[in-house]
Amino acid sequence: MKILIFYGTSEGQTRRICQFCADALIGAGHSVEVMQPAGDESDFDVARFDAAIGAGSVHMGAYQADLAHFAVTHADALNARPTLFLSVSLAIVGQDPEELADLDDITARFIEDTGWTPGQVAQVAGAFRFTQYDFLKSWAMRWIALRKGQDIDPHSDTEFTDWTALRGLVLDWAGRIGRGA
Ligand SMILES: Cc1cc2nc3c(=O)[nH]c(=O)nc-3n(C[C@H](O)[C@H](O)[C@H](O)COP(=O)(O)O)c2cc1C
Repeated sequence: MKILIFYGTSEGQTRRICQFCADALIGAGHSVEVMQPAGDESDFDVARFDAAIGAGSVHMGAYQADLAHFAVTHADALNARPTLFLSVSLAIVGQDPEELADLDDITARFIEDTGWTPGQVAQVAGAFRFTQYDFLKSWAMRWIALRKGQDIDPHSDTEFTDWTALRGLVLDWAGRIGRGA
């Protein structure tokens, strides 16, 4: 299959996730194009692809605006083919019921606001990327880590993404849609 992967990222973890998914899919024999929308893709032809994966990370309760804009612009084409949405966050790491409910609300709002209804949604654990934060963000994220009781090194990145599970998820998705399931 020819698969489109489009994503939004703020500190780069979702890009790593999408590149990893692309490698896994290419390894399974698919052809993959990865792109990061920048807000001006109205001419982009989603119909060239058999299926698509969209991915974005949660920041202050919302995904990247350029990702949402791309989803709004191409909602019809996306809704006409198999799609998977990868929602990247830290809330999914803690398994706190309130935070998980918030996460579901954030994803539901994105789906409602964009008009793109992914065939499958997966919540994926992201990372603390202290190497990318400015001073204020660094202190805010230290405070969040402390509050969650997460053991982090504030001078380096701490990754929670389960790469083995992600590989399984994306290959399972591609396998199912390839069989028309
Ligand atoms: C300023 C800031 C705000 C964030 N807000 C949230 C949030 O509201 N909920 C959440 O679960 N994670 C939040 N995160 C964690 C990010 O979703 C997580 O670090 C993710 O891996 C970022 O992916 P990216 O590098 O692709 O942007 C926040 C991170 C930062 C730096």
